[in-house]
Amino acid sequence: MVQKTKSVWFCSACGNESPKWMGRCPACGEWNTMVEEKVAVKGNPRRQDEPSAGGQQAPLSLAEIDSAEEVRKSLSSPEMDRLLGGGIVEGSIVLIAGEPGIGKSTLSLQIPLHCQGLRTLYVTGEESARQVKMRASRLGGDGENCLIYSETLMEDIIPAARRAMPDLMIVDSIQTVYTQTMESSPGSVSQIRECASMLLRLAKETGIPVVLIGHITKEGSIAGPKVLEHIVDVVLQFEGDNTGAYRLLRSIKNRFGSTSEIAVFEMTGAGLREVSNPSEMLIPMHGQGLSGIAVSAMLDGNRSFLIEVQSLVSSAAYGVPQRSATGFDVRRLNMLLAVLEKRAGFRLGVKDVFLNMAGGLKVSDPACDLAVICAVLSSNFDFAIPSDVCFAGEVGLSGEIRPVSQTERRIAEASRLGFKAVYVSSFGALNCSVKGIEVVRVPDVPALCRTLFRQK
Ligand code: TYD
Ligand code: MG
Repeated sequence: MVQKTKSVWFCSACGNESPKWMGRCPACGEWNTMVEEKVAVKGNPRRQDEPSAGGQQAPLSLAEIDSAEEVRKSLSSPEMDRLLGGGIVEGSIVLIAGEPGIGKSTLSLQIPLHCQGLRTLYVTGEESARQVKMRASRLGGDGENCLIYSETLMEDIIPAARRAMPDLMIVDSIQTVYTQTMESSPGSVSQIRECASMLLRLAKETGIPVVLIGHITKEGSIAGPKVLEHIVDVVLQFEGDNTGAYRLLRSIKNRFGSTSEIAVFEMTGAGLREVSNPSEMLIPMHGQGLSGIAVSAMLDGNRSFLIEVQSLVSSAAYGVPQRSATGFDVRRLNMLLAVLEKRAGFRLGVKDVFLNMAGGLKVSDPACDLAVICAVLSSNFDFAIPSDVCFAGEVGLSGEIRPVSQTERRIAEASRLGFKAVYVSSFGALNCSVKGIEVVRVPDVPALCRTLFRQK
């Protein structure tokens, strides 16, 4: 029988489906994102009031439902376990998303290699079994419990998983697998959606936890299918610079735990190493007496760590001054420079200003404002800030320094790392019991200049 197909248009940014082409997706408002895909028309659809063969379960009242805790399996990696909320939950689907080359395959292959007693089925659609073997020998560890299956057809993968009944299944990547029930090519929205639902059914029926690897497009969305985010239970997103050594794994959705968790990894010659103390890598040992450097006590998710902010201020050589920021919002930098100009009288409008966050990290914590203006002023005055001083404060439009969340935790982290003084806002209550660190409270930018830079 020839299967009938019809054309459907999917938005490649959000996965919205439409029966006809449109210039602009009505769901997410993006232009030129609708792509055509062929989908099979199901013949003889079941009437809506007919019961299905499997629909025997009656609705239950909440009180009747068994409230046993989820069963979790440890991945033998303290950072990964914490990120997942205490291990991977049986029958759950975890998506690890990130740009190509960031380390998704490395991380997912490291799990079975370093975790004794976790039988893992590693489905590879991107690399051949030999390539996986080469990577595994680079990562070390014993691969006895790790089954490698080089296949992309879902109709083969699902029975293989049911036969092997592993403790964990990894699919690298969801964009390369496909099902024959769909006409469209692997990686298209309808393929990804259908394959993910097939894996979801497998996970729920057998209790095997499934880890999916997904690529991210340059714009930062999980390639094509935002739809994937609805299907899976946990989304972990890899962030960081491919050229730098440090990677952040951030939990952006978690049905079984908190979403404010991050884990830091370092890419080494033998795989990804967990960095349990991120502050140490973000405040590199620099010589005393360099201007343009300030350390910020920042918070990302539930982690508090210290990061070095570097700035260079120089006279604008060619008319229009340049503003450039790496790891920091350049509009926010412009705002802070305007505050310094208007409220404290610095003539930064005729200067080039460059800003850089250490470690290639992207920072969005407003508490970094204070360190940013201190780094800029330090470079501007060519005055070195003592290396045992750090900062935590938000800068308001009128030049006031505003209090930030969890100031006590930031102070505690700074003290633990041997800092001798921390500058915070003088507004708001602060009952800090941390010993061995001086807490300097400043109300606004002019007061900061007087106390720190000894300017009038
Ligand atoms: P990979 O896991 O293949 O990325 P993804 O699956 O996200 O596309 O990682 C690729 C990069 O990691 C590659 O540039 C090489 C580097 N790498 C190391 O530095 N050390 C290692 O031990 C491994 C396995 C990879
Ligand atoms: Mg890969």
